Amino acid sequence: MKRTKISEIWSPELLGQKVCVKGWVRTRRGNKHVQFVALNDGSTIKNIQIVFDMEKFSEDDLKPITTGSSLHVEGLLVESQGKGQTAEIQAETLEIYGTADVNDYPLQKKGHTLEFLREKAHLRPRTNTFGAILRIRHTLAFAIHKFFNDRGFFYLNTPLITSSDCEGAGAMFQVTTLDLNNVPKCEDGKVDYSQDFFGKPASLTVSGQLEGELGATALGAIYTFGPTFRAENSNTPRHLAEFWMIEPEVAFNDITDNMQLAEDFIKYCISYALEHAADDIEFLAKMYDEELIDRLKSVVSHDFVRLTYTEGVRILEESGHKFEFPVYWGADLQSEHERFLVEEHFKRPVILTDYPKEIKAFYMKQNDDGKTVRAMDVLFPKIGEIIGGSEREESYDKLLARINELGIPMKDMWWYLDTRRFGTVPHSGFGLGFERLVLFVTGMTNIRDVIPFPRTPNNCEF
Ligand code: 4AD
Ligand code: MG
Repeated sequence: MKRTKISEIWSPELLGQKVCVKGWVRTRRGNKHVQFVALNDGSTIKNIQIVFDMEKFSEDDLKPITTGSSLHVEGLLVESQGKGQTAEIQAETLEIYGTADVNDYPLQKKGHTLEFLREKAHLRPRTNTFGAILRIRHTLAFAIHKFFNDRGFFYLNTPLITSSDCEGAGAMFQVTTLDLNNVPKCEDGKVDYSQDFFGKPASLTVSGQLEGELGATALGAIYTFGPTFRAENSNTPRHLAEFWMIEPEVAFNDITDNMQLAEDFIKYCISYALEHAADDIEFLAKMYDEELIDRLKSVVSHDFVRLTYTEGVRILEESGHKFEFPVYWGADLQSEHERFLVEEHFKRPVILTDYPKEIKAFYMKQNDDGKTVRAMDVLFPKIGEIIGGSEREESYDKLLARINELGIPMKDMWWYLDTRRFGTVPHSGFGLGFERLVLFVTGMTNIRDVIPFPRTPNNCEF
């Protein structure tokens, strides 16, 4: 018999029909007359209740059914007698695929802490919490592709292995096939990369932006959506060593267009999730964060504040608030500063622009004041920076001057500079940290809980 997914089982026309379901047992309870099994197959947060009439089944038949075991059940779908559910299945046949030993199965009990589940990352997708998070993550990924596709952007796949450092932060993982126990050396004692796989040093990318600009100056509007890697040794609840980033890049957009795109984009994703992942968001709100849904709706319904970095710093200085890190013009803002502006001062998301050039990357468009660049960071409640972007420097001379000033080797950058040598145009883009968006929409507080297999310092199991 054809299987019905549990997400589909609630459709009224199935009532009174014989159905087949397959899934994993969440709980079993009951007495010697009747037994109830809550079954989940991952398609939805909702379990289906299977009712076993103990005149048709024996104690021995049901004994292997413990939390975590896997079943195939066929039976009649009927209206439920029990509270809180609309339908249940009266079991007629039972097949047990696999058991889960009560003493060994780590998720035997309910109510494990998120910390405990991080240690069991291989099994945690089977919990209600992680099922909900992973389904929301999928829904957001789908919304992202839909948003850009509907607006005529092209999905561009930029390389993961690269020989340039986009952000210039030096936080790159090296990629090599050299034998680290016997590294070939040049006469001057340095590593002889001519013998390495690519014949030169290579790394995992920190951003697809530079290649994204090549796409945008040909196709007009592109976006990337892929993994990025940063070897920053920062053990915070908002940093991963491997995270996913979405980077739209648009020819002819200035920073004002870029801000509007960012605001429309993020609001679209949140609205899409509210509509298409409502059950899962409600579950997480109930379990972890009662204000979650109000917060999501509030972000969608308010205009984001637009403010220069200089004005932002002045508000922070004049706030009288005691921060852990000092705030002054020129300082790189910490998440406590960003969150103060968003949560305390404006009570809505803020787009901060025109940062000092010293704390931003080389490619940003230089303002006439000689001190600031046309950068924009989107700051969110609970998160801090969720998006970073800018208008790009389109002048070949100014870009080259900045590259030289920062000592970036020209041999790595000639292809990028060609975009400014041949048919240069004003253009802008930004990067959204996907996990930070998932954090915001799920209401989780640790970024390790919104990616299936987190990579952080000293953490690379399987
Ligand atoms: O601000 P960032 O470094 O910007 C760029 O990489 C630009 N090339 C983007 C562009 O203009 N195309 O990173 C963008 C976003 C941040 O705002 C943050 O949300 C996220 O990526 N991010 C991280 N997320 C998780 N873990 C990390 N270690 C992250 N570093 C940045
Ligand atoms: Mg940034």
